[in-house]
Amino acid sequence: MQKQIILKEEVLLRAQSALEAAFSDADSDDIPRVELTQATKSHFGHYQCNSAMSLAKIFKKNPREIALAWSDAMILYDQNHAQTTKACKMFEKIEVAGPGFINITLSSPFLSAKLKEAAWQQMCFDVHASTAVVDYSSPNIAKQMHVGHLRSTIIGESLRRLLTYCGWSVKGVNHVGDWGTQFGMLITYICEEGLDTEDWLLGSGKDSIDSALALENLMQLYRSARVSFTEDNAFALRAKKAVVDLQSGNTVLRALWERICEISRVDFSKIYKMLQVEIEEKGESFYQSMLAPTVKDLEERGIAKISDGALCVFLPEFKIPYMLRKSDGGYNYDTTDIAALRYRVDHEGAKRLIYVTDAGQKLHFDLLFATAKAAGYVTEQHRLEHVGFGLVLGKDGKKFKTREGETEKLIDLISEAVLRSKKMIVERQSSVSQNELENSELAERARRIGVSAVKYADLSNDRMSDYQFSYDKMLAFEGNTAIFLFYSLVRAKSILRKLKNCSYSEIETFAPSCEQPSEIQLVLALLQWPEAIALTRDTLAPHRLAEYLYQLACNFNHFFRDCKVHGDAKESARARLVLETVKVLEAGMHILGLEPVESM
Ligand code: ARG
Repeated sequence: MQKQIILKEEVLLRAQSALEAAFSDADSDDIPRVELTQATKSHFGHYQCNSAMSLAKIFKKNPREIALAWSDAMILYDQNHAQTTKACKMFEKIEVAGPGFINITLSSPFLSAKLKEAAWQQMCFDVHASTAVVDYSSPNIAKQMHVGHLRSTIIGESLRRLLTYCGWSVKGVNHVGDWGTQFGMLITYICEEGLDTEDWLLGSGKDSIDSALALENLMQLYRSARVSFTEDNAFALRAKKAVVDLQSGNTVLRALWERICEISRVDFSKIYKMLQVEIEEKGESFYQSMLAPTVKDLEERGIAKISDGALCVFLPEFKIPYMLRKSDGGYNYDTTDIAALRYRVDHEGAKRLIYVTDAGQKLHFDLLFATAKAAGYVTEQHRLEHVGFGLVLGKDGKKFKTREGETEKLIDLISEAVLRSKKMIVERQSSVSQNELENSELAERARRIGVSAVKYADLSNDRMSDYQFSYDKMLAFEGNTAIFLFYSLVRAKSILRKLKNCSYSEIETFAPSCEQPSEIQLVLALLQWPEAIALTRDTLAPHRLAEYLYQLACNFNHFFRDCKVHGDAKESARARLVLETVKVLEAGMHILGLEPVESM
């Protein structure tokens, strides 16, 4: 297979070479690298180049003059190149608009040839690919996962998949809150109330114990323990002592702690299974033995200082310090995070470290990253990123709550989406008099649609903004929804199914058709897949990919409206377009964690 150059780069290279040829009398050091952007409107062609404006200053000429000379050079260069290499011309048309904008339209034979040899994943390979750690989901033990954890789980999982697709070796890490003062409270409370002998807690007769009920009990106890902790000083002291005992390895307390974690874990894994999330649990407790050595190391490096009894890192750019040890001697969230970061860099070999949490934790991560840099734990080679996100809002535009005014549980929210999609499928079946589905098939299809709808509604919004959660909107067939994408994929696959006796590998040998306007737009959209991936990878913003998939699906539907495939003289050439659409749609949906269905 030939080396795969992505479309935009190939056009850019040609434009750059033409520029250098046209202005060869200028000192070549003076010719900067030019830039291209995708055309914002189809009547502007396929790509736009605005670099004549900046070149005007360098060459001390009028930008329009430069653009005209440059575009002539592009045409000439392209013709010569085509002649010498016996390849087709790249440009169909180059126009100069306004003060010096260059609008480029690519030729159909070039686009078709490019699509014929496209290897989608290979084209998206990241030359910087190495090891990455994505820290996401990260709920807390003895508390239920709520809607706030939804975004972290969904966004983090898609970033893990995205980087994996681009050739990174990626670890998805669940930094579960399984350590700290709250366990002292909880364990002390449980022991003092004599509950440490209860079946649901000990897990005896395991099968008969309802894990959801066990978690419910645990959360109730946690709430009561909190009350005692704040209202009863003596209790608070005992709870703090329990933390120390637990940390120094008291076996009885340790067993109880493990059991508490286990109860929560059962519940979390149910959700991960439903969402098809692959994440490895490495909770806060995992780094426990690394806390003291890391703190000592930071002291030895002269970065940490005692202030009001607490050990802190003061950084010039920040008003507040990063706190390594509280005045009571205890370690905290900050301590664990710096130790974990060091572990990820030194032992896991991470070059890119990504943390997905709500935007409210931005300052914490800014401080963490600055501390790691000041300590020399990371170098220029490392990329540290906090991927923040906004709130999920209810219909009323306020923070999403249940009707009773409580924080919505994640599991209830997903179950509701699945229930609604089941209803929708059944209604649709009777309206188009489809055969009734088997119960298990119906359940699986409803799960796929419901879960994908929830995920896509989240991912298709700019993660930094709040978004309104609406079942009606996310389960609609029209608009930018998972269902619309599924529907487009089902349609494409059914076209291919109708081409009897024609396997996918056979269709792959056909030269793609690229003549009708809607064919050209579809080919162009397909070839821009690597550009969408690169943009999403650089910004860690999955809505970029969602936007791309939506546009691709729209382009495909226009093609479907305008171009007959089955039985047409261009059947094979068009089938190739459909097949490539299927491949790209499927790759994109997989990255976003969507699970398409075979029919709608
Ligand atoms: N457990 C934390 C929370 O619920 C999120 C942890 C995020 N990851 C990290 N390394 N701090 O807010």
